[in-house]
Amino acid sequence: MENYTICNCMQVTRFDVEEAMHDHDNFGSVEEAFKEVQAQTQCSTGCGGCYSKILDAISDVMHGY
Ligand code: FES
Repeated sequence: MENYTICNCMQVTRFDVEEAMHDHDNFGSVEEAFKEVQAQTQCSTGCGGCYSKILDAISDVMHGY
């Protein structure tokens, strides 16, 4: 898969999201994973416009895409 920027404000890429999730394999929910990814990458702390794209990416990673 090609890397791409998901959050322009904080320059967070798809790979950054994957990496932030790698240490924690067992997230109960996408929301829980989002909190962890946000804590590590600061994604979605600017305009917030990427929020749903981040959730989509997290959900893809959780499902192994
Ligand atoms: S694009 Fe992610 S906070 Fe603005």
